[in-house]
Amino acid sequence: MKHSLFRHTLLLLALMVAVAVGAKDRTIRVLAIGNSFSEDAVENNLHELGEAQGTCIIVGNLYIGGCPLQRHWDNAQYDRPAYRYRKVDAEGKRQQHDNTRLSTALQDEHWDYISLQQASGLSGQYETYEPYLKQLIAYVKKYQPKAKIIWHQTWAYQHNSSHGAFPNYDCNQLTMYNRIVSASQQAMRDNGIKIVVPSGTAIQNARTTFIGDNMNRDGYHLQLQYGRYTAACTWVETLTGQSVVGNTYRVKGMSDDLVRATQQAAHAAVVQPWAITDLSAIRPQSVIYTDKTAPVALRVQDLLSRMTLEEKVMQLNQYTLGTNNNENNRGVEVKNIPAETGSLIYFGTDAALRNRMQQHAVNDSRLHIPIVFAHDVIHGFRTVAPIPLAQACSFNPELTRQACRVAAQESRMSGVDWTFSPMIDVSRDPRWGRIAESYGEDPYLNGVFGAAAVKGYQGNALADSLSIAACLKHYVGYGASEAGRDYVYTEISKQTLWDTYLPPYRKAINAGAATVMSSFNNFDGTPVTANSYLLRQVLRRKLGFQGPVVSDWGAIMQLQAQGSAKDLSTAGEQAMKGGVDIDMMSHSYDKYLAQLVKDGKVDSTLVDDAVARLLKLKFDLGLFEHPYTTETPDSQRFLRPESRAAAEQLAEESVVLLKNNGILPLTNSKRLAVVGPLAEARKDLLGCWWGHGRETDVTSLLDAMKTVFGPDVRIDYARGCDYDGSDQSGYAQAKAIAAKADAVVLCLGERGNWSGENQSRASIALPEVQLQLLQTLKKTGKPIIVVLSNGRPLQLDGVEPLADAIVEMWQTGIVGGTPTARILKGEVNPSGRLSATFPYTGGQIPIYYNRRTSARATQGFYHDLTSDPLYSFGYGLSYTTYQYGAPTVSKTTLTANDRFTVDIPVTNTGAYDGKHAVLGFVQCPYAKLTRPVKELRFFDKKEIKTGQTVVYHFNLQVNRDLGFVNDEGNTVVEPGTYRLLIGDQTITLNVK
Ligand code: NOJ
Repeated sequence: MKHSLFRHTLLLLALMVAVAVGAKDRTIRVLAIGNSFSEDAVENNLHELGEAQGTCIIVGNLYIGGCPLQRHWDNAQYDRPAYRYRKVDAEGKRQQHDNTRLSTALQDEHWDYISLQQASGLSGQYETYEPYLKQLIAYVKKYQPKAKIIWHQTWAYQHNSSHGAFPNYDCNQLTMYNRIVSASQQAMRDNGIKIVVPSGTAIQNARTTFIGDNMNRDGYHLQLQYGRYTAACTWVETLTGQSVVGNTYRVKGMSDDLVRATQQAAHAAVVQPWAITDLSAIRPQSVIYTDKTAPVALRVQDLLSRMTLEEKVMQLNQYTLGTNNNENNRGVEVKNIPAETGSLIYFGTDAALRNRMQQHAVNDSRLHIPIVFAHDVIHGFRTVAPIPLAQACSFNPELTRQACRVAAQESRMSGVDWTFSPMIDVSRDPRWGRIAESYGEDPYLNGVFGAAAVKGYQGNALADSLSIAACLKHYVGYGASEAGRDYVYTEISKQTLWDTYLPPYRKAINAGAATVMSSFNNFDGTPVTANSYLLRQVLRRKLGFQGPVVSDWGAIMQLQAQGSAKDLSTAGEQAMKGGVDIDMMSHSYDKYLAQLVKDGKVDSTLVDDAVARLLKLKFDLGLFEHPYTTETPDSQRFLRPESRAAAEQLAEESVVLLKNNGILPLTNSKRLAVVGPLAEARKDLLGCWWGHGRETDVTSLLDAMKTVFGPDVRIDYARGCDYDGSDQSGYAQAKAIAAKADAVVLCLGERGNWSGENQSRASIALPEVQLQLLQTLKKTGKPIIVVLSNGRPLQLDGVEPLADAIVEMWQTGIVGGTPTARILKGEVNPSGRLSATFPYTGGQIPIYYNRRTSARATQGFYHDLTSDPLYSFGYGLSYTTYQYGAPTVSKTTLTANDRFTVDIPVTNTGAYDGKHAVLGFVQCPYAKLTRPVKELRFFDKKEIKTGQTVVYHFNLQVNRDLGFVNDEGNTVVEPGTYRLLIGDQTITLNVK
């Protein structure tokens, strides 16, 4: 009662004052002492709205981003020239004056009104108003005794806002709003302020209409068109005393429905400043979601507002379409897929089946929502590139970007809009088969290559007919699978989570990745699929990811096997609450989610948010405008010359020369023996996840050798043995041809399906039958060049002593053996460097370069074996030699925000032109949070001709490149000594 009397008196007063001012000369002068809230509300539309009401409003705004009352008071006291002062004059002209003092602006006009407000995050905390507000009002009155003071009540953040202060309000929009209301009321009571501009209430009112939550453009600042317009409407109605409903001033791009809704929201707020009004009945007359000129956020909200709960839930399911070629997720072709299904995993190779399915979705569903089609395009669709582990050895992310661009083009033209790639799981255990899919053991390298892949897949815009959406996976920590076994428990400390597993995600999210896949493993005892700390707090709030999260295949169902959920319904509840938007193949959401909402177990806003994110993806992909894929012949889509060239270049730079006693390149050989189970392999060179690659597309190493070496070199071939088993009957023939050759090229390694998903191996050594073949050939006394093709680092202790040279060619995709043959011949100088460490033996695992230092530097080693790996991360030989010159550093004494440059000259001192990757490691010897012995933080690859010196230039930032994150994800720069290790050069830096 008392409260409502206060409200009405206040309103009456505001109206009387406004009308009185307006009646006198129809000019109102208002100065806002504000921050970005006032910038949004008064600078853009207020003058124009006033004009349309017949009132001239002169507006001044004193702006400092995020400025709280305390700082305003500080500026006032010391008369600081701290503001950007923007003014809209009587003619509507805008002027800007920088470095303005409060006192100057206060005297610039005879202000009728002067408004004050608290800064965003603090606006619901009344204790932060005191005592500054009182003092400020007294200060203002000194200059403008007649001006009326206005309290500008601001808005609460969007409910998934990543603003740092939002957790103070339990990340709850309504909690924050209610606190703003009570803080505002108290501020007004305590300071005798009679007029409020309830922008915050207006925004909340608008949220109850179909506009929903999209009033904020980035979670806290107002959406540029209708968000700002709503706030300005609230101001104009407060100042003029006339209802804003019907005001004819429009902002470009706003539909009539939208104008009506926002004006009503503002009007309702002025009438009831402290209570949100349910305006949900204001429905748009026109359909916005089909209007391609409307902002995507609005189209999403409009569509969402038309959907039933059942339709929403159907969007959140992912089934399969077609027949898969991967054993681990073989799906029966779905015949009766509901037209309302959100997404499908598409196993087809052309657009025909997709289009049939899409017709069903578009024509037979009530709201005609197209389906998004996904596929595991991991290292190529038809033009299969090297496996990601190999790609990273190129240290040339631009080549990965190009290969992903090719993959995107082939995919989109074949009916696939979304790939489940890149996999950016830091992988330090070669027993884990999925290391093949990763960019290796280093967080930075995974981040850089992940970002390059995202850019390649997504291009400049998802709606581009040759782009597809990327999916970062497996979020997060999947690479820590215990003992290298797939799908098992992971033990990860919070610090390791933040400084090892999350950095690649941060980088690739910043590169614009559209989607994320949650992982099978668990963190801190809770499966990731149900882990709201990881999926909501970290991914959304801390990393700012806004796209949809899809579960991994069957992962929701597997919550039962993981001992988290007793049944599929509980699993669905846990996953939705945890933060999984889309259920891939568990049939939990389609069966139970609607009921869970009806029973009050799952909040409907969680479902709405999830659906909104998926719909946004569909709008972004342009699916509403172009649901169908044009059917094109294979020759126009696949294996185009430029696509092959991109794959070949990438493969060429991925090959790593591990050993060379001088036998390579083979410039003088006239007769070569090519031996081994890999020599004629084609399919196996495609590796895991070969997409729609075909073995007939692959050039075997044997064929490549023949082509590259030409008719002048005789090449004899004997298989020698199989990949495994015990059959040694082929040894004799192999030995015979070896005995007659100048050198033996022995092709060993793994079958393509020995790595990848569900392909853990306890031993990473080559099978005995291959090792014995090597031993047999060694007896001929001929030089032996071992060429390896495999999907993981191998244990080579049995190979290295017998080989004269070792070439790690990896699984190269369709170009097969060609790059390696060219390297063997010397046409190409190898330039790859290892993306993952090769242990000496499996007993050393886990072994990776960026380990923490030991408590005892000279003890703790193995007694029966070296504690060093055979080949460490970054290792790789060349046919030439490079010499590093003294680096030039722009600054060596630094503070946390400094930028500095490093230039390092590198000379090619050998006889071959080459490409060389310079790797920059950072060492921080002493920090409270102990750091790894060294960490890769920058690199670059350039071509250097023989005899030439090339300068590598690095732009570095202390925060970004020397700092590290703590277990809350905040960057820390500890003062002290840092070292940059670049080749054999060391730079010492001193951070204050
Ligand atoms: C399971 C795998 O873990 C994931 O990487 C893949 O994208 C999905 N299956 C879909 O095939």
